[in-house]
Amino acid sequence: VLDVGCGTGAALAAAGEITGDVTGVDISPAMVERAREAVPGADLVVGDVAALPFEDATFDVVVSAFVVFFLDDPPAGLREWRRVLRPGGRIAMSTWNGPDERWSWERALRQEFAGEMPPELLPRIATQLERLARFDEPGKVKDELAAAGFEAPAVEPYILEFRFEDEQSWWDWSQSHAGRAAFDLLPAETVERYRARAFEEMQVCRADDGTFPRSYSALFATARRP
Ligand SMILES: C[S@@+](CC[C@H](N)C(=O)[O-])C[C@H]1O[C@@H](n2cnc3c(N)ncnc32)[C@H](O)[C@@H]1O
Repeated sequence: VLDVGCGTGAALAAAGEITGDVTGVDISPAMVERAREAVPGADLVVGDVAALPFEDATFDVVVSAFVVFFLDDPPAGLREWRRVLRPGGRIAMSTWNGPDERWSWERALRQEFAGEMPPELLPRIATQLERLARFDEPGKVKDELAAAGFEAPAVEPYILEFRFEDEQSWWDWSQSHAGRAAFDLLPAETVERYRARAFEEMQVCRADDGTFPRSYSALFATARRP
């Protein structure tokens, strides 16, 4: 099993429980280090999954958890993953479905603060949103997989429901993943103003028990190399 964009090894560890023969690739040396600690038996490689250092038809399965939309050219990436699969081998890939509309105020607030961001960042954010949108519906994911030469694509949605205890828990979470990148580029005073506004706006999401429910909706896709 090859895990492309293995990160800290979450999917790699699960695959490693099924077969002892697992390989992970990630562009971030720090991620690869974390994956090495999490899955000591895996082969781990620092590299770009858009140009894999493997022969054609090397793997039975390619796993890709929330990675394809980070590539500069997602269709070329899918074709590259197909190349390293043996005929009859399978891909299992996850992407994000649409956002939780109860939290749409977040988009509006980010829009409001966009003018305070470094201007060179805005096209990058727009490109990233476009790439996410290429894979945010089952039909789109199936079409992308078919266009890359996979057959029998199947897509299942998966919804994760969770809740924040209070406003600060939401803020700590929002600073714990890639969404923090834009905040890191803003002056501390601007971030503080954003946080105060967000704490007001998020009251529309408060449930009767005082917590803030939220869902994350993912798509799990599988397909086969002919
Ligand atoms: C959202 S994380 C997912 C990590 C892991 N698959 C998981 O589900 O926990 C995306 C990962 O893709 C990696 N990545 C992004 N672009 C990449 C590329 N071109 N080549 C290799 N890895 C890449 C990042 O370094 C990051 O670890």
